[in-house]
Amino acid sequence: MLKVAFFDTKPYDQPSFEHYGKLHDIEFKFLETKLNKDTVELARGCDAVCVFVNDDVNAEVIDRLYDYGVKLIALRSAGYNNVDIKHAFGKIHVVHVPAYSPYSVAEHAMALLLTSIRRVHKAYNRTREFNFSLNGLTGFDLHGKTVGVIGTGKIGRIFIDICRGFGMKVLAYDKFPVKDADFEYVSLDELLEQSHIISLHCPLTPDTMHMIDHDAIAKMKKGVVIINTSRGALIDAEALLQGIKERHIGAACLDVYEEEADIFFNDLSGHILNDDLLARLISMPNVIVTSHQAFLTEDALNNIAETTVNNIQTYFKEDGLCDNELCYRCGRIEHCQKNRQERCF
Ligand code: NAI
Repeated sequence: MLKVAFFDTKPYDQPSFEHYGKLHDIEFKFLETKLNKDTVELARGCDAVCVFVNDDVNAEVIDRLYDYGVKLIALRSAGYNNVDIKHAFGKIHVVHVPAYSPYSVAEHAMALLLTSIRRVHKAYNRTREFNFSLNGLTGFDLHGKTVGVIGTGKIGRIFIDICRGFGMKVLAYDKFPVKDADFEYVSLDELLEQSHIISLHCPLTPDTMHMIDHDAIAKMKKGVVIINTSRGALIDAEALLQGIKERHIGAACLDVYEEEADIFFNDLSGHILNDDLLARLISMPNVIVTSHQAFLTEDALNNIAETTVNNIQTYFKEDGLCDNELCYRCGRIEHCQKNRQERCF
C-alpha cells in the first residue's frame, strides 16, 4: 500500500480522498499542518506528499523530501507557484491537477462581480435587520460594458463565455494567445485602457508578479472593477489600496491575496488580524474578499481527489509516466512539449 502525507488537510478534503484512496490502495496520512521546512519531517517514511496552494515547497523542503526517499509531490491544485519546480527537476517528480472544474472558478469570478456591482452583500445585511432602504445600493448594467480578460486558458475562456452571455464586449490578453480564438486579443496596455472590468486568469510567474501595479492602475479607466481569482501576487496590494483611496478603482473583488498563506482557510474571527493592508482593504465598502474559495464546489472537490489519486497511482504503478507531470526541462511549463512516452528525467 502506498503511503502519502497529506498536508494542510481541511474537513472538506478528507471524504473524497479517503474514498478514491481506498479504491487504489493508497493510504493518506492526513495532517492539519502546512508543509514547510519545520514540518517536512512528517513526510518521513512516505512515498509521496500531497500539497495545496499554501504549502511552501521550497528548495530546502525539496532536498529534505529527497533525502527521506519521497518520490512524488502531488499538488491537489492547478497552480504550482508554491513549488520550486526548477529545484525539483532531477530529484522529485511533480504532478498537479490541471483542470478540476474551471467552471467553479469562472462562476465564482462572476458571482463576485455581480455581488459587488449590485451591492448584494450590502442588501443582504440590510434586510436581515429589516432595513429596506435602497439608498446607496445603485449599481450598473453589465450589458454593453467592456470586460478585459487576462489569461485565456481554461478558466479565462469560460469566464469570457459567461460575460458574453451578459452582452458584454470582451477584450483579451494572453502571452501565448490561442489560435482558434473567437474573441478579440489586444495588447495588455489596450486592455487596461479600454476595460470597465478587468479579470485576472493567468498563473503567477516571475513575468506576471505584480502585473497590476501603480503603472498598470494609472492606465485603467476611472471606476474600473478589478477581479482576481488567480493568485494574490498578480496584484501589488499597496498599489490597489492606493487606487481605491484615490477613487480611481471603482471596486475590487479578491478571492486571493499576496500574503494569504497564514490567513486564508483559517477562522481568525477571535483574533487581531496582523495584516494591516488586508484589514484596510476589507474595510473598504467597494472591496469584497473571499478566502480562496473559488474552487470550492462539490464537483471540483470530487474531481480534485479523483485526478490526484490517479496521478499518484499512474506514477507509481505505470513506471512514472503521468500526463499531469510538471516538466521544468522545456522551460515553458504550461506548454510542455515533452514526449509523453518518456519520463521527464
Ligand atoms: P491555464 O493554464 O489553462 O491558463 C492560464 C493562461 O494564462 C494560459 O492561456 C497562459 O498562456 C496564460 N499566461 C501565461 N503567462 C501569461 C502572461 N505572462 N500574461 C498573460 N497570460 C499568461 O490555467 P487555468 O486553469 O485557466 O487557471 C488560471 C489560474 O487560476 C491558475 O494559474 C491558478 O493560479 C488560478 N486558480 C485559482 C483557483 C482559486 O480557487 N481561486 C483555482 C484554480 C486555479
